[in-house]
Amino acid sequence: MKVAVLGAAGGIGQALALLLKTQLPAGSKLSLYDIAPVTPGVAVDLSHIPTAVEVKGFAGEDPTAALEGADVVLISAGVARKPGMDRSDLFNINAGIVRNLVEKCAAACPKALIGIITNPVNTTVAIAAEVLKAAGVYDKNRLFGITTLDVIRSETFIAEAKGLNVDDVKINVIGGHSGVTILPLLSQVQGVSFSDEEVAALTTRIQNAGTEVVEAKAGGGSATLSMGQAACRFGLSLVRGLQGEENVIECAYVDGGSEHADFFAQPILLGKNGVESVLAYGEVSEFEANARDAMLDTLKADIVLGVEFVK
Ligand code: NAI
Repeated sequence: MKVAVLGAAGGIGQALALLLKTQLPAGSKLSLYDIAPVTPGVAVDLSHIPTAVEVKGFAGEDPTAALEGADVVLISAGVARKPGMDRSDLFNINAGIVRNLVEKCAAACPKALIGIITNPVNTTVAIAAEVLKAAGVYDKNRLFGITTLDVIRSETFIAEAKGLNVDDVKINVIGGHSGVTILPLLSQVQGVSFSDEEVAALTTRIQNAGTEVVEAKAGGGSATLSMGQAACRFGLSLVRGLQGEENVIECAYVDGGSEHADFFAQPILLGKNGVESVLAYGEVSEFEANARDAMLDTLKADIVLGVEFVK
């Protein structure tokens, strides 16, 4: 398996690259690309860790050499939030970066599974889809918006609030990846119940958890270490699916024929071709049904913004 990280010199990219170097299956290749000149050095640094994962680093304007033969491409290139910004403020810079990088993917590794981390994910994934369509290589089963950070935050906060072993907490987070479009399905969590006040408070905390980090870092960026872990978990799940492992399920933001919107985050079964099937997200409470319906105008507008950017 060859996994490429684009944006690999950044806060997320370096954390993700470290985790992949130590956790990818033996014999895998890790390819790091960033415009920052330090990137080959990041690869040299990682190459001194004794695991059977070969690391190469590439800098400069053209990611093609990093992408050739890639099975999985994880994209975290772009700018991150500062206090007072929301994810949509990143659109002006990040939209063009994602468009250009995905054009290179379409040419160099058209069959790769592409996972988008760069915000605003609700929009950048739609941009990637349009670029791949224009290049004639779009396969909706191979493109993912990575929303795993919302899932791991939910697992952590629920375990903390209820005194549970975090390893036992499983939850679906549906919708998108910003503000009210992030909807944790707390009613489905096994072995625990929440009062209405707890549901409201936990939902709001999960939706605003990114801002919690942005404010705590006080101008130094947004979530990088927890996001590195989230992207590693998701990337390893993509690899496990490609290698034929069964029952690999993650939530992700995909073009899955959802009844709600053209792109929607929900549980998916991963396999040798990426998305094997989009799974039903199950029964929801009245609170969750209302929150889901109330987010749809925002989510759809985010998607339209991406489609129109490319056209
Ligand atoms: P960062 O600023 O630390 O790193 C970004 C890297 O991208 C830098 O090394 C920069 O040189 C590189 N870059 C910029 N333009 C590039 C290009 N054209 N080609 C290759 N590399 C390029 O930012 P950080 O903290 O790593 O965040 C990256 C992105 O991830 C941001 O858009 C942020 O909003 C997003 N993010 C997404 C999350 C999610 O849950 N999906 C969570 C947290 C952040």
